[in-house]
Amino acid sequence: MKIKRLLIFALFSVLAVVLSPVAHTVEPIQLPIQDWHFSGPLSTFDRASLQRGYMIYRRICAACHSMKHVAFRNLEAIGYSEEQIKAIAAEYMYTDGPDEGGNMYERPGLPSDYFKSPYPNHNAARAIHNGALPPDLSLIIKARHHGPDHVYGILTGYEAAPEGTALRAGQYWNRYMPGHIIAMMPPLAGNMIAYEDGTPQTLEQYARDVVTFLTWAAEPMLEDRKRAGMKVLLFLLIFTGIMYAIQKRIWAAVR
Ligand code: HEC
Repeated sequence: MKIKRLLIFALFSVLAVVLSPVAHTVEPIQLPIQDWHFSGPLSTFDRASLQRGYMIYRRICAACHSMKHVAFRNLEAIGYSEEQIKAIAAEYMYTDGPDEGGNMYERPGLPSDYFKSPYPNHNAARAIHNGALPPDLSLIIKARHHGPDHVYGILTGYEAAPEGTALRAGQYWNRYMPGHIIAMMPPLAGNMIAYEDGTPQTLEQYARDVVTFLTWAAEPMLEDRKRAGMKVLLFLLIFTGIMYAIQKRIWAAVR
């Protein structure tokens, strides 16, 4: 029994020594922690930022990234009217069918359609991007540790590669990408998109807005959840007060 334990201990020690250089070469990434509008216990999404963020997604990111879990009608929640949503959806063409003759046909998008993918399938996406697959962005904020800060970091973290780093064609150096090499060209730069509400047209602001939009997309019920949580807390508070009063009365009667 003792020998078995010793053997296991020895095995782990050897493994630890063998693997430690690998572990050491991966330096931890310090994310640029932001103060997000939506992160407090009571806070909500900033509607104007959500709409600007959607515009950034639509004009820039949608060229390479799908968001297959979001339908046009969901945009009502971020302040678009039914008419506006109909018009936005109709800008895209969808394949539908088959019709009575058995043929597929093209039709303009409807509010019930989901955001259109820029690719017919994953292989087509990889073929365009030197083998890299731009992930679907519907849930990216939940799929990454510290999602909002991570995505904000990636969008603002492009730098010249340190000397001696070998980058292949289509690769870029990014401070916040694990391993620092990313196959996405810098998608945003200052003054790239006109903001009509006077918001600064900086890279950082664009990144904040699109991250706000992506966070809403990944968790559209966040506000409802917070509101429900507040109601429960309020209920418990009042309930505690009532129980306290009742308890006092009962004991007063006993005495
Ligand atoms: C020209 C195409 C292109 C555009 C435009 C583009 N991306 Fe990407 N993106 C990619 C590719 C390719 C990858 C995969 C990179 C990799 O795996 O190295 C990627 C990866 C990502 C990732 C994943 C990073 C990670 O943690 O693994 C995020 C997040 C992302 N993009 C967000 C965005 C956002 C937000 C926009 C719009 C502001 C955008 N991208 C615009 C091509 C693009």
